Amino acid sequence: MPTNWISIYQLNGYCLKDLASFPAKDRQLWAEEVAKVEKKTFPSSEAFDFDSELRKKNTSVILVLTNQDTSELAGYLVYVRTKRLALLHKICVVEHERGKGVGRYLVHSLRDRLEKGGCQSILLWVDEARQPARMLYRSCDFVQIDRCLDYYGPGRTGLKMELSIEK
Ligand SMILES: CC(C)(COP(=O)(O)OP(=O)(O)OC[C@H]1O[C@@H](n2cnc3c(N)ncnc32)[C@H](O)[C@@H]1OP(=O)(O)O)[C@@H](O)C(=O)NCCC(=O)NCCS
Repeated sequence: MPTNWISIYQLNGYCLKDLASFPAKDRQLWAEEVAKVEKKTFPSSEAFDFDSELRKKNTSVILVLTNQDTSELAGYLVYVRTKRLALLHKICVVEHERGKGVGRYLVHSLRDRLEKGGCQSILLWVDEARQPARMLYRSCDFVQIDRCLDYYGPGRTGLKMELSIEK
């Protein structure tokens, strides 16, 4: 997938960037920004290990940046791609940017990218207790296909969701 891909979806005041499209030095700076948000948002057991994960060939990170003179990170999405399937591994919007459509922008843009690449479906697991994330996925037409008790640890149920994108 070309790293200069542009989504058909637009959100005023924001733009999408593929982390891999930056020169190495900038890529490192943005990865550090993402790691900071990651640390603030998720328990350490769920934090994404960017150093090792980003070396994997099938893993991609889409960033949403603000369209200002000095761009700031508004959110990011991490996904893993195989030939016909993609796993939406993680999505996060920085706290003060939530509720403005950034999460939906990321999911729609991922769908657009994968559709063009011949992918058939997007899968994800979400903690049943993460209501905003569940609502976001539902509003983007994901359907629940499985439920697993203790998936995220004792007492934390995981829901498996799928979005079929085959044309
Ligand atoms: C989940 C998350 C990514 C949503 O991002 P967002 O940019 O705030 O979401 P959007 O503004 O695009 O909202 C899109 C839809 O999601 C749902 N939604 C988003 N936030 C919600 C909330 N707090 N309560 C209920 N529904 C919510 C709504 O259906 C909304 O559509 P609407 O505004 O037309 O009602 C964000 O809350 C977040 O980063 N949470 C912490 C990290 C996380 O839980 N990630 C998921 C697991 S990896």
